[in-house]
Amino acid sequence: MTRPTETLNPSIIAGKEDDMKRPGLMQRGLWIGLATTAAVLVATGAALAHSEGGGVALAVEGAPAFSLSPVYHILVAHFPVALWMTAYLFILIRCFSDSEFAVRLQKAIWPVAALGTIAGFVTYGLGLTIYPWSAITESPLGRNHIMLATWTLSYWTVISVLGYRFRRHLFEGGQRWVTFTLATIGAIVITITGTLGGSLTGTPSLVTKSLSWIGWNVYMTFYLPTWMLAIYFAGAVLLIAIGIVGWKRRV
Ligand code: HEM
Repeated sequence: MTRPTETLNPSIIAGKEDDMKRPGLMQRGLWIGLATTAAVLVATGAALAHSEGGGVALAVEGAPAFSLSPVYHILVAHFPVALWMTAYLFILIRCFSDSEFAVRLQKAIWPVAALGTIAGFVTYGLGLTIYPWSAITESPLGRNHIMLATWTLSYWTVISVLGYRFRRHLFEGGQRWVTFTLATIGAIVITITGTLGGSLTGTPSLVTKSLSWIGWNVYMTFYLPTWMLAIYFAGAVLLIAIGIVGWKRRV
């Protein structure tokens, strides 16, 4: 039986409408996922067909180990980069506009970010198959690329979950500037991951060079002063405490 308060409460009606829209959304997400997979397969086939002569020939000496050509990693890496940057563009538009167009774009943010995250996991896995772990971690540049890739993937995984969980509230009042700041950090870390990957292939971009202007030589081991670790730890504890207090107030 429906209670009168339920029928009158607009937020409950909105929630029910959302539930009705969800199967359609899932189906569209499924189609987008299938189309993305098909595009990756076709592109992989094309890359394989053209890799003769022009590709990277990898001769591993010593103990035989499982290894895949870098071509797969390089190919798939474009998907998370493109999808996450598109999600960032939509977030930017929504942060600075309340127009109908921007509100419509808002609905696409979390599916686009989540697809990017799925592609990010595939890219990360393919990255691990190029060289043996002991070889890639010998190079400071390689270590920096892995470090940034790990930050980027973890970061966008959290953004995707937050985007899904709180999608209606991300742009309410002052919250939109928190969303803006978090998304900007996400865009910066994926940019650095990509540029370090480019440097690994021998094509450093202006981004790699400009990192030296802020004092980070990406060809050297990345060090954090110990006191920074203490600040990180204190920050993490503080954030967890804020979360617990906020959660207790809601219940
Ligand atoms: C989200 C994760 C990652 C992204 C977005 C990413 C992105 C990239 C990009 C854009 C390139 C350069 C492609 C080009 O120059 O055209 C690259 C190269 C490379 N990446 Fe990653 N990467 C990721 C994770 C990893 C991981 C985890 C590893 C290793 C453990 C790795 C190892 C490499 C290597 C070895 C190259 C150079 C390949 C070559 O020699 O041609 N990547 N990556």
